[in-house]
Formats: sequence, C-alpha cells, structure tokens
Amino acid sequence: MKKNIPVVTVDGPSGVGKSTLTYAISRKLKWNFLESGYMYRITAFFIIKHNLSLNKKIISKLKYLEFNFKIINKKLKIFFYDIDISNKIHSQEISMMASKIARLPYIREWLLYKQRSYKKHPGLITNGRDMGTIVFPEAMLKIFLKTKFKERLKRRFIDLQNRGFKINLNILHKELKKRDYQDKNRIICPLKPAKDAIIINSTNMNIEQTIKISMQYIYQKLKIFNNIL
Ligand code: DC
Repeated sequence: MKKNIPVVTVDGPSGVGKSTLTYAISRKLKWNFLESGYMYRITAFFIIKHNLSLNKKIISKLKYLEFNFKIINKKLKIFFYDIDISNKIHSQEISMMASKIARLPYIREWLLYKQRSYKKHPGLITNGRDMGTIVFPEAMLKIFLKTKFKERLKRRFIDLQNRGFKINLNILHKELKKRDYQDKNRIICPLKPAKDAIIINSTNMNIEQTIKISMQYIYQKLKIFNNIL
C-alpha cells in the first residue's frame, strides 16, 4: 500500500541547497529520491529543442519525451534518450523556460502523475516548489529551506561555473530575481511553505549542519510514522 511509504519533502527557491540536502538524505536512508525541478527543466529542454508552442496541444507531443535519472559515480545524471544532458539543463535559457512553463496548468498536471510515481518503498525524499503543498500533501515531514538572496546567488554562481558555464553575475542576479518572482507569484502551485512545514534558515549553516538538523527531524517523525502503521 502506497499509504505506508514515508515521504519527506524539501521545498524552497533556487540556490537554497535543496539538491545537496535531498541527495545526502537519500543516501543516508537508502530511499528513492526525486528532483522535481529536473522534470521541468527536461520538459523545457524538449520544448526549446523542438520549438514547440506553449498551448494545450503540447501535451500530445510530450508523450515522446523520454528521460532517465541515473546515479553514476555518486552523481545524479540525466539522460534524454541516451544523451547525457545533466549540465545542459542548467543553462539560464532552460532555467527561465522551466519557470515559464511551470505556470501552465496542463504541464503541471502532466508532471504530477510522473512525480507521484516515485513514491516507492522504502521511502521517498523529494525536492521542488510544491512537493509539500500539492504533490505529496500526505508527507511525513515537510521541510522548507530558506537562505538570504545574496547567499543563494553566490551558490548558484559557483554551481554554474562548476558545470562549465561562463556567467555574468549581473545577468544571473536579474534572472534569479525574475524566477523567484514568477515561482512565488504564479496562480497555481506557487512556491510557499506548507502550513505544517518546518522552516530551516540555512543562511548561516554549512551543509553538514543542515543535514544534521534535517535528519533529527526525520528520525523523530519516522518513530511516530512507524508507531501509527
Ligand atoms: O528546482 P529548479 O531550480 O531546478 O527548478 C526549475 C524551475 O522549475 C523553477 O524555477 C520552477 C519550476 N519548478 C516548479 O514549478 N515546481 C517544482 N516542484 C519544481 C520546479
């Protein structure tokens, strides 16, 4: 029964450290994990590649979109058919398109079922913008990560440089602000903490501290979860 499968959600804006935290927890617990943002990015990649118009008819084309997540050398890799697009989907063009299509209800609905199919034994840890509010409202623990804008900009800048992109800090600054605005203010599934989320402000924490505090919450919740099953 899917009801018996524990889910932990990590939501928050870009550059807040969701991916690193989610991946670390999934390795500790040996749970499945899902980067829902990558689904939006892969979809954006497909739309740009095929120059598709953003209307409802797009859904009939998206059924040809095939992708896979694989862990290779402890790193998450994304394959579009057999092509490794792990770095490509982080370009600013794809980031902006991902945020743009995330406002479309038919795209969100199409992805919703795919996201929910990741809920498998022994558990799921997932991250995004609406994982705790819309996709997994039943989650055992909902974490909302917050970090000051300046720190997020810095983290994003370093991440993109490490992925081989040449980045103009002013442009990145503007784009991150725009994406934040779009993700928070869209009508459907905006970025916001679930009512029962715990808020972790990681501005002055390193990743080890963020992982430690998150794991404390998870172990507490798991005890309760296992007792009521
Ligand atoms: O987490 P990310 O930066 O890779 O996500 C890219 C975009 O996808 C983000 O700007 C908004 C959208 N997104 C969303 O709307 N809902 C999610 N659950 C995850 C991502």
